[in-house]
Amino acid sequence: MTIGTPSIGFIGGGNMAQAIIGGLLRAGVPARQLAVAEPDDGCRHRLAALAAGMRLTAANHEVAALADVLVLAVKPQVMPAVLAGLASQQRPPGQLVMSVAAGMPVASITAALGANTAVVRVMPNQPATVGAGMSVLVASPAVNAGQRTLALELAATTGRALWIEDETLMDAVTAVSGSGPAYFYLLMELMEAGAVDLGLPRDLARTLVRQTALGAARTATDESRDLADLRRSVTSPGGTTAAALAVMEQAGIRETLCRALVAARDRSIELGRPSP
Ligand SMILES: NC(=O)c1ccc[n+]([C@@H]2O[C@H](COP(=O)([O-])OP(=O)(O)OC[C@H]3O[C@@H](n4cnc5c(N)ncnc54)[C@H](OP(=O)(O)O)[C@@H]3O)[C@@H](O)[C@H]2O)c1
Repeated sequence: MTIGTPSIGFIGGGNMAQAIIGGLLRAGVPARQLAVAEPDDGCRHRLAALAAGMRLTAANHEVAALADVLVLAVKPQVMPAVLAGLASQQRPPGQLVMSVAAGMPVASITAALGANTAVVRVMPNQPATVGAGMSVLVASPAVNAGQRTLALELAATTGRALWIEDETLMDAVTAVSGSGPAYFYLLMELMEAGAVDLGLPRDLARTLVRQTALGAARTATDESRDLADLRRSVTSPGGTTAAALAVMEQAGIRETLCRALVAARDRSIELGRPSP
């Protein structure tokens, strides 16, 4: 791993920052290279418990003044104020700014910090908190090859990480991997409730559903295997699985899922528009 030398600062120390910090620590990045600016005392205490030696402060400017890589991990609605603060202070030349704020385009960040700022926008997802995240990255023109390597390695400490070159795809990415965990949780939630309705004890239902989801996901991670083939391989004609899938098909599951993805993509476009 090349993440050996840079100092990495975080603005905002909430869920996503903690997921990335956990990943960096697991990857062997020393805590003394990490700094977090976080206004909430309780949150700073939780961060202090993650690792000794991390620099913790309530002042964004202290972290921004020192970090080679500055990760912006605040809610999107807080971003304009955070960017305004950063724009008005001295920061190291060549600092790489990584933003995980959903819906905020690279251009909005460079508009605030300067066109020559090296900016990487990342769309992570919640399983980053258990090291099984999916992060998609897009870079501003000022990001150099070394910074690209660094950004990808940093994102990959929380799971898989991939570059896209066309930022307009970020809205579809948000609809698929950003919001996607919730779709699977809903399916599992409904299966759990349905299993209880079938008479299974709740504890048993919980275990059966979650382990089945894990097993299916792990089987499907072999990308050389076609998903429709996998489905057919557990569906005997006239059998139990076929009976269940027929009900789902009749209920229009394919159209529903397509419409759901379009709705998420369109909402992402809407949220990313500059406010009038
Ligand atoms: N969590 C996810 O699954 C996920 C997935 C994809 C993208 N993201 C993106 O990740 C970003 C962070 O989300 P999160 O879930 O980590 O949110 P979070 O847990 O609320 O963390 C944000 C932290 O920033 C702090 N903060 C607020 N104002 C600040 C300021 N001016 N300067 C510095 N810190 C400030 C907040 O403190 P207070 O609580 O005191 O306000 C909070 O601790 C968001 O932009 C979100 O779009 C998250």
